[in-house]
Amino acid sequence: MTTMRASYLDWNANAPLRPEAAAAMSEALGFAGNPSSVHRYGRRARQSLEKARQAVARLVNAAADHVILTSGGTEANNLALQAFPERRLIISAIEHESVLAPAPSAARIPALRTGIVDLAALARLLAAEPRPALVSLMLANNETGVIQPVAEAARMARRYGALVHCDAVQGPGRVPVDFRALGVDLMTISAHKLGGPMGVGALILRDRLELSPLIAGGGQERRRRAGTENLPGIVGFGVAAELARAELEAGDRVAALRDEAQRRLLAIAPDAAVFGAEAARLPNTLAIAMPRVAAATQVIALDLAGVMVSAGAACSSGKVARSHVLEAMGIAPAEADCAIRISLGWSTEEAEIDHLVEAWGALYARTRASAA
Ligand SMILES: Cc1ncc(COP(=O)(O)O)c(C=O)c1O
Repeated sequence: MTTMRASYLDWNANAPLRPEAAAAMSEALGFAGNPSSVHRYGRRARQSLEKARQAVARLVNAAADHVILTSGGTEANNLALQAFPERRLIISAIEHESVLAPAPSAARIPALRTGIVDLAALARLLAAEPRPALVSLMLANNETGVIQPVAEAARMARRYGALVHCDAVQGPGRVPVDFRALGVDLMTISAHKLGGPMGVGALILRDRLELSPLIAGGGQERRRRAGTENLPGIVGFGVAAELARAELEAGDRVAALRDEAQRRLLAIAPDAAVFGAEAARLPNTLAIAMPRVAAATQVIALDLAGVMVSAGAACSSGKVARSHVLEAMGIAPAEADCAIRISLGWSTEEAEIDHLVEAWGALYARTRASAA
């Protein structure tokens, strides 16, 4: 029996669990103690929890005391956005659904054609009302990889007494992320984008910032997030954070592979469009449209050939909706509907790029032949 070639190029949806994280999690699954218990088993669980918290804090240059562990990026974003009910909300138009959905009436910062948000528009929104704001701007877009001017936005926001939250979920492990240097007040990260498990994340807080919790109950996480901690998941997060920090140089290799993929796909299909390429991008992300072939058709055809990519953002319903990110960049719907997202990671190999190019090229040739 021959096994089918499989090339996983959907790392922005989920990075594979690192074996070291899996091993540490499996050990932690055997811990009997609750981290809040004072006896020796409880203390052992607490020690593992705090060690992981420190590793997470170190990854983004934050203080361990300022890390609130959550059930993932989505919860951390929801916690941040509801934490200051007295403030008006300003969010960017290209945010992830976990920022957009909890802030349905927020003012929106538009994006430019490059995929970067319009800072002049942010200045106007900040100046428009005296009521202090909470601004939410992501570090790097999950669909295009475009890196956003978060430090500039934070400097600007501060002049208006606004707080700034940054959804940095796609950053750590791919580009250096420095909470202090960004100058933001709150930052979201998620374990499963950097080789930790799904369902664990963190909200990082600036010193002495008080927030209203989203989940009420026990006094865990210094009364900022109730509920017995997901110890095995958090331990896996800590190990993955440690490894991601040690391994940032891999970014150059990943960037070279992504650039090669882009060059080879454009050589096959000169009419294809790449989104966000004029801006600074995550080294691992490529958003590309094959004209007149719906994204869902491309994703299915590539999957049949063993190549796994996604149509824009992964959507829990499995359906493909029009990308609000490309729409905000002013990309025409007919072109946006043909965009797929290819995303790489630390273990991506040259052979997987060959596989992608082969499968995409075959689809392109087929669709052009049938159109002729
Ligand atoms: C930019 C961004 N923010 C937030 C999330 C949500 O994180 P989680 O999957 O941990 O809930 C994602 C996940 O894809 C994301 O890409």
